[in-house]
Formats: sequence, C-alpha cells, structure tokens
Amino acid sequence: MKKILVTGGCGFIGSHTIVDLIENGFEVISVDDNSRSSEEIALTGIEKITGKKIKNYKVDLKSFDETHAIFQENEDIAGIIHFAAYKAVGESVEQPLLYYENNMFGLINLLKCVKEFNVPNFVFSSSCTVYGNPDAIPVTEQTPTKKAESPYGATKQMGETIIQDFSSANNTNSILLRYFNPVGAHPSNELGELPLGKPMNLVPVITQTAIGKINKMYVHGSDYETRDGSCIRDYIHVCDIANAHTLALQYLIEAKNKTKTDIFNLGTGDGVTVLEAINMFEAISGVKLNYELGPRRPGDVMAIYANNNLAVEALGWQIKFGLKEMMQTAWNWELKLKKKQDLLKQQAALN
Ligand code: WQD
Repeated sequence: MKKILVTGGCGFIGSHTIVDLIENGFEVISVDDNSRSSEEIALTGIEKITGKKIKNYKVDLKSFDETHAIFQENEDIAGIIHFAAYKAVGESVEQPLLYYENNMFGLINLLKCVKEFNVPNFVFSSSCTVYGNPDAIPVTEQTPTKKAESPYGATKQMGETIIQDFSSANNTNSILLRYFNPVGAHPSNELGELPLGKPMNLVPVITQTAIGKINKMYVHGSDYETRDGSCIRDYIHVCDIANAHTLALQYLIEAKNKTKTDIFNLGTGDGVTVLEAINMFEAISGVKLNYELGPRRPGDVMAIYANNNLAVEALGWQIKFGLKEMMQTAWNWELKLKKKQDLLKQQAALN
C-alpha cells in the first residue's frame, strides 16, 4: 500500500482528499499545525467515513527540523499532496508578510525534504486565482497567468514557479491543480467546511445567512455585463476536487505525465452567477434568503470558469456532483453544525 503525505490534511479540501485516497487503497499520513483547522473534527469525520484512524503530525512546516523529522520517521513516502497554506484573499491584502512567510517558507522547507528523501511525486494545491482577470473564458491551462489580484494569489503563482523549477532540477515529478471554487460537503455529512470567523466565500455566507448566523448577506455587484448582472464563477464540489487529487497521484505513479510539471484546471466548465447560486440554494432548502443587491467587491473578476477537458481526458476525471448537490450538502452540513452548537448550549445550561 503506497504511503501518501497530505499537508493541511485537517482542512476542508485536505480532509475530503484523505477520504478519497483511503477509498482508493492508499495509506495516508497528515501534517497540519491546526492553526486554522480542527484535528478532532477532521480525523473523526475521516474515521467515521473510512473506518481508518489517520495520524496527524501537529507540525508547522515553517519549522524545518520538525518537518524533517516526519520524513525520517516515514522513509517510504510515495507521494505528497500539499494543501497547507493560508487562503483568505482579504486577509492576505491586509497582512501580506504573513502570507508570504507562511505559504512560501512552508513550501520551501517541504521541498528540501522532498529532495533529501527522494519523494518521487508531488501534487500542489493551486487556484484559478493565478489567471487574474482573464481576457477570454473559459480558461484553459494555456491561458496566460496575469498579475495576481492579491498576495494570496501571488503565493499560488510563486508556488507554481518554485515547484516547476524544483521538478526540472530534481527527480520529483509534480502536478499543479488549479481549483475554481470548491464548495459543498461530504455526502455522509461527516465532513464539511469550517470557516474560521466571518466567512468571505459565497456558499458559507449563504448557509450561515440561511441558518441565522448572519442577519443579511449582500450580492457583491448586480451591474456586471452578465446574464443577470452578478458575477460568474465555476463552483465545484469538494468531493470532485478530492477525487482529482487521487487521480493525479495515480497518473504520476503510472508515469503518464507529459512533462516534469503537468497542470490541470479543476472546474465543472459551467459558469454560474451569484443570483443563480442563491436561487438554487432557496430551491433545495426551502429557505428564503435575506439578501440585498450591494456594491461590487474590489478585486472581484466579473466572470471566470474552466475549460476542464485536460483533466477529464488525461486524468480520467469524472464530475459527479452538480450545483444542486453542492448546495444540498453544504446546507446539510450547516444544519449539523447548528445542531451540535445547540446541544453544547443545552449542556452548558445544565452544568
Ligand atoms: C464568489 C462570488 C463574490 C460573498 C476566492 C479565491 C479563490 C478561492 C475561493 C481559496 C464572487 C460573490 C461572495 C458574498 C457575494 N480561495 N459573493 N456575496 O472570490 O471567486 O474566489 O475564494 O480557496 O482562490 O479567489 O470566491 O466565494 O469569495 O466569491 O456576492 O457575501 O460570490 O463577489 O462574485 P472567489 P468567493
């Protein structure tokens, strides 16, 4: 059984990817400092779904010695999937050094260990944000990248460059996976998104508004040149994203890669407007959302969605979830979180 190291394994996409890896016969270890994730919720969810107890090394990748020790303890790592990074666009604008230090130092320490321990395969969690505001949509992997709209996006662009140069100079083969907008939750409702503090991303804002955590939400812009005036994005279910990582690893292990660093877009290829997403949510939940048409959000691109042909053809990727299931699973997860919180409140009241 091949052993895979998943960094950020307690995070939203990391935890769902561990489930998919296990279901496809891999042995998995996680490294996650849990600065922005819950080890207990993630590992419990993974165990409930797969029956497997996963070891998480509670290590900050910015500590080279602690990271190196993980590799000394696991000399048989067949591949790495690197998720661990900060990813809040707005926060990155306010605190660029926090993002450059965390995301880049962590990656460089990891790659130093990849080199020393000759890890053959490396998959990187990148983002459609590397395209900036594209001149033409849908974007393909050949669409030129543009100046990133945020330090977060810049760390993804720099990460891609560092990995390409590293793979060219070393034995390791890499893959860059450019996600569009990951949303939803595992159908078992044992795993889902845990936004820390006030969410910025559309779907958690929708579900928290519907559940009453947020009083009113705003559509950021209704005067764009789109079919209903609101922005277009390519929402993709987190389980479809997860499976693409397993396929990418298998693709490298079977030496099917065309270059030292192949690149794939991970999107459905369908553009959905903000208002269409809201309407779908209202239809599946039966909840009338309290929203208002507000001003545009600085930094937003009007429309971006993927041409995903390469991932479908080369990786054999098959998208299993549509917008309806994305909204339904996200809502089921929000309802479960609320039930947990209500139970904790009742217990606290009794104590
Ligand atoms: C989607 C659309 C908003 C909230 C970013 C990063 C990307 C990835 C996902 C990390 C936009 C609109 C949102 C709200 C709204 N990051 N919106 N009201 O900006 O496309 O992508 O997050 O993995 O790399 O760039 O995602 O969900 O923030 O916004 O109208 O309360 O929803 O304006 O058009 P975005 P998002």
